[in-house]
Amino acid sequence: MNIRQLLSDKFQAAMLAAGIPEACGPVVAPAKKAGFGDYQANGAMGAAKRMGTNPRELASKILKQLDKGDMIEKVEIAGPGFLNIHLSEPWLGQQLLAAQQDPRLNIASAKDPKTVVIDYSHPNLAKEMHVGHLRTTIIGDALARLLEFQGHHVVRQNHMGDWGTQFGMLLAHLSDKLADSDAQVALADLEVFYREAKVRFDDEKDFADRARDYVVKLQGGDEQCLKLWKQFIEISISHCEDIYSKLNVTLKQEDVYAESQYNNDLPVLVKELLDNGIAIEDQGAIVVFLQEMADKEGNPSPMIIQKKGGGYLYATTDLAAIRYRANQLEADRILYVVDARQSLHLQQAFVASRKAGFLPEAVSLEHCAFGTMMGDDGKPFKTRSGGTVKLAALLDEAVERAEKLVAEKNPELDVATCTEIARKVGIGAVKYADLSKTRTNDYIFNWESMLSFEGNTAPYLQYAYTRVRSIFRKAGIEPGELKGDIQLESPQERALAIKLSQFGEVLDQVAKDTFPHVLCTYLYELASAYMRFYEACPVLKEGISETQKHSRLQLCNLVARTLTAGLDLLGIEVMEQM
Ligand code: ARG
Repeated sequence: MNIRQLLSDKFQAAMLAAGIPEACGPVVAPAKKAGFGDYQANGAMGAAKRMGTNPRELASKILKQLDKGDMIEKVEIAGPGFLNIHLSEPWLGQQLLAAQQDPRLNIASAKDPKTVVIDYSHPNLAKEMHVGHLRTTIIGDALARLLEFQGHHVVRQNHMGDWGTQFGMLLAHLSDKLADSDAQVALADLEVFYREAKVRFDDEKDFADRARDYVVKLQGGDEQCLKLWKQFIEISISHCEDIYSKLNVTLKQEDVYAESQYNNDLPVLVKELLDNGIAIEDQGAIVVFLQEMADKEGNPSPMIIQKKGGGYLYATTDLAAIRYRANQLEADRILYVVDARQSLHLQQAFVASRKAGFLPEAVSLEHCAFGTMMGDDGKPFKTRSGGTVKLAALLDEAVERAEKLVAEKNPELDVATCTEIARKVGIGAVKYADLSKTRTNDYIFNWESMLSFEGNTAPYLQYAYTRVRSIFRKAGIEPGELKGDIQLESPQERALAIKLSQFGEVLDQVAKDTFPHVLCTYLYELASAYMRFYEACPVLKEGISETQKHSRLQLCNLVARTLTAGLDLLGIEVMEQM
């Protein structure tokens, strides 16, 4: 259910009936302050301006035409022409009851499901995953889960970097190492391996020559060489899979569609672009000049798709990828969860592929850009000695820190339970700290604030969930045994009810705008509304009637289920106690 949409439809109809042109929208949004109703429709002001009439009069004309149905209790005109909407209590109670009885919490599946391709995580397989891959991996995964929950057909595309000249030195080094050990052992630490290969490449002329030779052979499809390369890639992918499972991310082996998989298409694509005049030869290179992205002086933006020596580029592969995704995968939407610093590159790829007619007009290409993760010093996050932080090490530290906190908070827990809780808290904290920030901004990575049990953090939400569960244990009732209506008598019950009913519209908004922090903010507000309700409305106190107890317990249970569902869409787990 999407209250905002339902109200928009009602007010739009009323505006049309009042003779207001359709282009003037009803502008419905949740009320920002208490005392101004539950929602507001602010469209009367804009419409009056356009029509040159008095906004308050127009607002009252709209009201005369409004079909309140059983949804709206009353509407007040306020200020210059705001319409403050009060939802009907029985209607809200019925919505919650419907959510209570529905495994999907009364959230309908998309009426018009789309095929959404999401390009995310995409580490470079020459090295180990580092903190720079965290944001794309968890933001992309949250979007994938959410769109899937809404009933869309999501195709995950892990565009791994598994090709390029650096593999020459890696393979040369690997073939030497295999004389002494097997590939698993040699590649146990990819960072060390990469560094060793790089040193040899820089210092040993022989080695460097062999490395270059490997590149040529690899590109030429030499069997021996491809076998070596496959060994390398497989082990490197298995490192990534360990991280995905630690991070509770849904990416699987079958989602890998790496750069090398476009190799055969690259010469075809370049030839095509040359033939149809989209690309031209310029100083030996093949270039697409994009007048659409010209600078202030009118110079077109150049996009090289083949180097002078014949080599292809990152950009060439991305053009091939767009064509594959639009045509083979039949995407309606293609989301790129990629660092903001690549926005020029992606913009060029988007514009060039449209120009080349690689995709139907209706397919949308969206760069879901994100900012940089910073250290406390306000500079990009590094180890103390200035190195890149391995993702595996960061996640281990998160769990260790969480373990200390959990053990302190609840010393009675046995070791196994404590470890399991610490895993969920630590990983949840890292993910939530990231997902709850507006993704386009840089943010400062800070252990203390992300692991705090207060404020907009994963531990706070996980804790709210455990509070609800403990009420049920105390009451000795299972959620399935609850019966009767949901009554909303106190202001705290009503406020909580409104929040609960807004889950659906929040999901719709995130699906459309691809900003997961909107869901985080919602869950935080829900947990806070629950805490206020819990203070004001006793659930298990003596003397409380059975009807009221059951009504309130149903609210509690909906909170627990909505928190679980919302956190699950972010890839964060809950626990019964902490
Ligand atoms: N592997 C690339 C990198 O590490 C990111 C790939 C992003 N996806 C894409 N289709 N370009 O920078």
